[in-house]
Amino acid sequence: MKITFLGHSSLSIETKDKTLLIDPFITGNELAKNIDINKLQANYILITHAHQDHIMDVEAIAKRTKATIISNFEIVTYFESKGIKGHPMNHGGKWKFDFGTVHYTNAVHSSSFPDESYGGQPGGFVIETSHHRIYISGDTALTYDMKLIPQVIGELDLAILPIGDNFTMGLDEAIIATKFLGCNKVLGVHFDTFEPIKINHKKAFEKFAKAKKELILLEIGGSLKL
Ligand code: NI
Ligand code: MN
Repeated sequence: MKITFLGHSSLSIETKDKTLLIDPFITGNELAKNIDINKLQANYILITHAHQDHIMDVEAIAKRTKATIISNFEIVTYFESKGIKGHPMNHGGKWKFDFGTVHYTNAVHSSSFPDESYGGQPGGFVIETSHHRIYISGDTALTYDMKLIPQVIGELDLAILPIGDNFTMGLDEAIIATKFLGCNKVLGVHFDTFEPIKINHKKAFEKFAKAKKELILLEIGGSLKL
């Protein structure tokens, strides 16, 4: 599994033979100006919630690639009305796709569309392929529900968590989340894009090191392999 950071909370995940895009927000992100959305591949687009900084480029990419949207019922219905196909889920549910199984998990956040229509309840995903299991929390506070993930779904190889604070949990909460999740390896997202979520990278690494946890921060366009 190869995970590429596209800025903010946007990721491209390459499994053995499929490409998943997560929360594409690229054209609205000055820091991601070197990423060309017309060159991104996608078989599926997973959307955690309806906020602009998670859906801005969904329509353009989905229409070009014919990707299938995976999200909650309300978000899938919204994009279906624009002629984009989707697979609706809701919290606590799982579905087996041709790349692996997706679980739609709880998040504590909000989820209105930019036009203020209802985007359902926000969520996150656990993605399981034949070799790996990763958790993408989406925008969320630290929540006790995270404890259920290893218990109900299984051991995680990587947790992708917001660390920018203000709109989501911050670094200290993300460290506690690693304990709840039983996963010491974190890829940080949702930082630096806007003024209130700018972080000091050196301090972030120091905090994680002190807690004996691993924090990974990728350059935009950079990748990690599991
Ligand atoms: Ni949000
Ligand atoms: Mn957000």
